[in-house]
Amino acid sequence: MTERGSSGGLTAGSARLCILPARADVADAVAGLLADAIRAAPIAVLGLATGATMVPVYRQLVAILRTQRIDASRVTTFNLDEYVGLDRQHPQSYHTYMARHLFLPGGFSPGRTFVPDGVAADLTAACDAYERAIRAVGGIDLQVLGLGPNGHIGFNEPGAAWDSRTHVVDLSSETRRVNARFFRKSGAPVPHQAVTMGLGTIMEARRIAVVVLGHAKADILARVITSGPSLHYPATALAGHPCVTWYMDEAAAGRLPPFLRK
Ligand code: GLP
Repeated sequence: MTERGSSGGLTAGSARLCILPARADVADAVAGLLADAIRAAPIAVLGLATGATMVPVYRQLVAILRTQRIDASRVTTFNLDEYVGLDRQHPQSYHTYMARHLFLPGGFSPGRTFVPDGVAADLTAACDAYERAIRAVGGIDLQVLGLGPNGHIGFNEPGAAWDSRTHVVDLSSETRRVNARFFRKSGAPVPHQAVTMGLGTIMEARRIAVVVLGHAKADILARVITSGPSLHYPATALAGHPCVTWYMDEAAAGRLPPFLRK
């Protein structure tokens, strides 16, 4: 495993890059991080992400929880985002994704797993309640993030305010186009809006792990890592966080400047 701090751009702060050979190695490392957090504090509060990136991470986490008999039933989790208009049983909802990939097979308690409500009658009130629920348990100990192809984190699209809290967003056409692959099978239309934790919410997590896999993310990852803080790339807000580690495979790291890859 190569682990390094760096100089310049985003990682000038205390962020670390963890570049591993293959996606399975990244999944192992991030699953291990989550399992360690639960083992060390059975009442840990975790912030969780969805997307294709997290599927192998959750598969590996479930395997660790089972083989090492780690009890996740007292862990509290908050997911980053959910589509507006998809009820929790919808096959493409993030409620369904989390139940299938982690909550049911991992033995998490339904009363302690929170995912934003995309069908609340009053979405603004539901967003406020989500923020209060995070505060009520003392905040998030470890937040896991994926990286969107336009540099988004959660569903905070380019231009998102850095002090934003959980709110409703209009999805960019690029995000809708890229995420259409998940909706093709069911034929359901890709929602135009989502509820997401804000950048301000994310930045309050005590520790953050960003997971980036594959060639397709190499350009945006290099841009985010090497550009200074920029509203065009929401992930660059993470430069202001004291404890961020970027986990990536060699494919995703492929466009980083050589001095960051050594
Ligand atoms: C999606 C989600 C994010 C996710 C990111 C990467 O649109 N809203 O939470 O981390 O984009 O997704 P993927 O892992 O499928 O590339």
